[in-house]
Amino acid sequence: MATVLSGMRPTGRLHLGNYTGALENWLEYQKQYRSFFMVADLHALTTDLDTGQISQRTREMVIDWLAAGLDPERAPLFVQSQVPEHAELHLVFSMLITLSRLERNPTVKEQVRDLGLDETVTYGHIGYPVLQAADILLYKGDLVPVGEDQAPHVEITREIARRFNNTFGDVFPIPQAKLTRFARFPGVDGQRMSKSLGNAVNFTDPPEEIRQRLRKAAIDPERVRQDDPGHPEACTVYTYHQRFNSADDVAVVEKECRAGPRVRGCFDCKMEAADRISEHFAPARERRATLEADPARVDAILQDGNQRARETAHQTMREVRSALGLGGTQRIAGRG
Ligand code: TRP
Ligand code: SF4
Repeated sequence: MATVLSGMRPTGRLHLGNYTGALENWLEYQKQYRSFFMVADLHALTTDLDTGQISQRTREMVIDWLAAGLDPERAPLFVQSQVPEHAELHLVFSMLITLSRLERNPTVKEQVRDLGLDETVTYGHIGYPVLQAADILLYKGDLVPVGEDQAPHVEITREIARRFNNTFGDVFPIPQAKLTRFARFPGVDGQRMSKSLGNAVNFTDPPEEIRQRLRKAAIDPERVRQDDPGHPEACTVYTYHQRFNSADDVAVVEKECRAGPRVRGCFDCKMEAADRISEHFAPARERRATLEADPARVDAILQDGNQRARETAHQTMREVRSALGLGGTQRIAGRG
């Protein structure tokens, strides 16, 4: 059975973009594949050394994973920093890729530009795709669900795996990126939904909060006067209907929107979308409330996930050290 590994940086509570862009796919993968889901807390250090909230954000995010329906019995949910083999494999892999290859990475280049780092970019930041390669290959991941921005990192992972196998023997699979659909889910302002842009709607927000957030949502800019026909394709609220309303109701929204504000007012249309979102996530909200009231259960789930991840990681590192001929032991190369 193919293995899936994916991870997210600990950003705290998740929004509709995280849900439709990643989590929702994970729910399917956990049924079809051997899966591991990781909180990439060491990755968070690449761009933020203020670690005061990392632990809290890790828990908030894991609670959302569980609320969405990830099943920790099927797929270990674990925290990167609690499995030291990630750091060890990262070190070995750092010898298998050139600095110039890493400097050509478009995603990191863009981050460096956006954050205005340039001369101040750290060694760890330039190298984080190598850490990501270790994340994936420690579990012998075959499939890596990621957004488009992360595809270059999976490519680097493939290069490292090939280089390792050619040099030391066949230990690793050559993983493939599984690009996620709906990766560009719009925020209330119409730009890509992102916590840092302040345009996000958390999927477990209470219904009143979701209504509040949608009040300000971007609508068709040409629908101003009572007789202006609407263009649903230009409206963020319509995208929400498409995603969370029934096909029949979406058809009604479309028709009425085109007929103009006398037939369908934007305010009512927004509130209807808000209510469909709230209904869709009612079970998740309930699960979240249960978990918030039971922190020991969240601890136990993470401890169990960390333990299971460590067992796999430990086994892979034994094969790696052996393939390298480290430690004075006999070689046991092979995918074991
Ligand atoms: N780098 C990814 C991000 O910033 C998170 C991540 C870390 C990841 N390790 C991973 C994703 C391994 C997939 C597989 O979003
Ligand atoms: Fe958007 Fe609905 Fe207004 Fe049409 S009626 S512009 S779909 S909010």
